Amino acid sequence: GLEIGALLKDTGQVTLDTGFVNTASCVSSITYIDGDQGILRYRGYPIEQLAEGSTFLESSYLLIHGELPSASQLAEFSGKIQHHTLLHEEMRRFFDGFPRDAHPMAVLSSAVSALSTFYQDSLNPFDKEQVEISTIRLLAKVPTIASYAYKKAIGQPMLYPDNSLGYVENFLRMTFGVPATPYEIDPVAVKVLDMLLLLHADHEQNCSTSTVRLVGSSQANLFASVSAGVNALFGPLHGGANQAVLEMLQQIHTDGGDIQSFVRKVKNKEAGVRLMGFGHRVYKNYDPRAALVKKAAQEVLGRMATPDPLLDLAMQLEEIALADDFFVSRKLYPNVDFYTGLIYKAMGFPTTMFTVLFALGRLPGWIAQWREMINDPETKIGRPRQVYTGYGARDYTPIAAR
Ligand code: ACO
Repeated sequence: GLEIGALLKDTGQVTLDTGFVNTASCVSSITYIDGDQGILRYRGYPIEQLAEGSTFLESSYLLIHGELPSASQLAEFSGKIQHHTLLHEEMRRFFDGFPRDAHPMAVLSSAVSALSTFYQDSLNPFDKEQVEISTIRLLAKVPTIASYAYKKAIGQPMLYPDNSLGYVENFLRMTFGVPATPYEIDPVAVKVLDMLLLLHADHEQNCSTSTVRLVGSSQANLFASVSAGVNALFGPLHGGANQAVLEMLQQIHTDGGDIQSFVRKVKNKEAGVRLMGFGHRVYKNYDPRAALVKKAAQEVLGRMATPDPLLDLAMQLEEIALADDFFVSRKLYPNVDFYTGLIYKAMGFPTTMFTVLFALGRLPGWIAQWREMINDPETKIGRPRQVYTGYGARDYTPIAAR
């Protein structure tokens, strides 16, 4: 309004861009998004082609190193990651200190932060070997940490990683396996979870990635920067949206499944009710990832002996919203998280783990962006300006006189 206009005039050269809607914070050659056309590419490769033909680890290599790996490069990369999946025994004890009902995202961010304490050879962001080993350790250990956070919450013993297994198999076994009992791996769950991780792997300068870059711009190490990214992802408007979507669907179902009355509440902006899993800062069209996730949801949930009524509810909700002028005029479409929660639920994950799965997926993006930032000679410490609206100068009064 007028007041801010006047303040801006006073401030001179500062631009006010709340939420950085129009401000680019960096140049980047990692991920391309065209939000109007619904296009997403990693290093130039369309997300649809990667989802179809690539794997999470191959796409992680692509994001981090810039090119698709050769067979031997991929084998070496995957082999190193497999080799580093174990957590230090002292670090395992770390989990004992958290309360059992701790949110696993809080446990994850603390544990990732703690990696800086265990690996002294990770503290110099300009040492290429240190960055390389920290990259491998993060990709290797975050699934172990994530499954331990889950085991802790349900009071089951933690399982050591089995390094004869692939990345996603290993994670599923550590999460759902029970000691001394063979764990049967479901190939469909592996394939779908691998694809979901791949779809989340990078999304240019979103809230958590910008956080990783901002923290890293002070030359904080990779673990410190990534743990900040985990915290940024915790919130319901970002990574927490997948949990919020499922809770919303469950609530509508419990209330008798009246979608129209829920949509009315959203449109009337009652108590800040939003249609979770809808809308995106950049996509003003169908999120290309959401289309792929919807297909996977239908595949995974279609196999279930008892159909999940929430899938049907979600599809009806989508249909109603896409035909409603409130959503159409604001260009609100389903985002990647509208259907992911239903798949995670079908796989047996509790809602609190959904955001952790997002973090697992986003990890290569955070790493790739941090590395691009630290290697860019143009990088400066991130330091936004402000428009001050507080008091002018006033005299201090001693406490007795107040
Ligand atoms: N439900 C209802 N109305 C919405 C929604 C929604 N999900 N999203 C935006 N709107 C409305 C706003 O109320 C606003 O309306 P107005 O012009 O009448 O005030 C208009 O659409 C523009 O919304 P903004 O909040 O300005 O859009 P912004 O770009 O800041 O927000 C965000 C993007 C945070 C994703 C938003 O759409 C939202 O809250 N969505 C729900 C949470 C969600 O799904 N988050 C996941 C994001 S994707 C991710 O992290 C993977």
